[in-house]
Amino acid sequence: MNIVLMGLPGAGKGTQAEKIVEEFKIPHISTGDMFRSAIKEGTEMGLQAKSYMDQGLLVPDEVVIGIVRERLGKDDCKDGFLLDGFPRTVAQAEALDELLEQMSKKIDHVINIAVDKESLLERLTGRRICSNCGATYHLIYNPPKVDGICDKCGGELYQRDDDKEETVATRLEVNIKQTEPLLKFYQEKDLLRTIDGNQKIDEVFESIAKILRGLN
Ligand code: AP5
Ligand code: ZN
Repeated sequence: MNIVLMGLPGAGKGTQAEKIVEEFKIPHISTGDMFRSAIKEGTEMGLQAKSYMDQGLLVPDEVVIGIVRERLGKDDCKDGFLLDGFPRTVAQAEALDELLEQMSKKIDHVINIAVDKESLLERLTGRRICSNCGATYHLIYNPPKVDGICDKCGGELYQRDDDKEETVATRLEVNIKQTEPLLKFYQEKDLLRTIDGNQKIDEVFESIAKILRGLN
């Protein structure tokens, strides 16, 4: 199953992606995570991406398309994949179509998690991430059992640089502008399903899983 997971920053893509890949046994391909790994490793591509991410701007299409092309060509994507946060522009969506056509594959589902703007701001500023395994928490909505420590691996939790209030506002604006035409793109292809992302984490997952199991 080939899935695209869409949603504005903080909508819960990463949170739901963790659950989807566990249930459906497909690799999780998050362009944001790939950039953060590249930054950690200090690669040239990471440095380039960082200058955009720190300002809440999108990384240029050709860079993003390049890393996705390389990733989708790997063996573990043979029987399906979950794209999280890609495509984010119509140009990226067109490039993805072209790429999949070359691989004789197609997108099966495009899931859009919709959340109101006020909640997005609250979710982003309260988010904490495990520095070891990357698991996502929220100070109020999904707190770890022990303050500042990951439940899964005992790693230390930190706040992402781009989750500071000034950057969050720009990120939301930039993404809102790009999302509208992208939603239209997938709607016209009859692939788009929008989920109410204001529900509790497990309820959002149930809504998504129903669609993926073909029950809705
Ligand atoms: P990326 O890492 O993809 O960031 P994003 O799209 O801004 O999305 P987030 O990771 O912030 O949010 P999320 O939807 O995953 O929410 P989460 O599950 O964590 O990208 C980072 C940057 O990289 C971009 O800004 C850009 O610069 C660059 N980039 C990446 N892809 C690109 C592309 N394709 N093109 C160009 N540039 C690209 O949840 C958020 C919080 O809410 C958490 O604390 C969570 O616990 C909580 N939460 C989740 N669900 C719920 C719920 N139902 N109820 C209450 N709380 C909840
Ligand atoms: Zn962890």
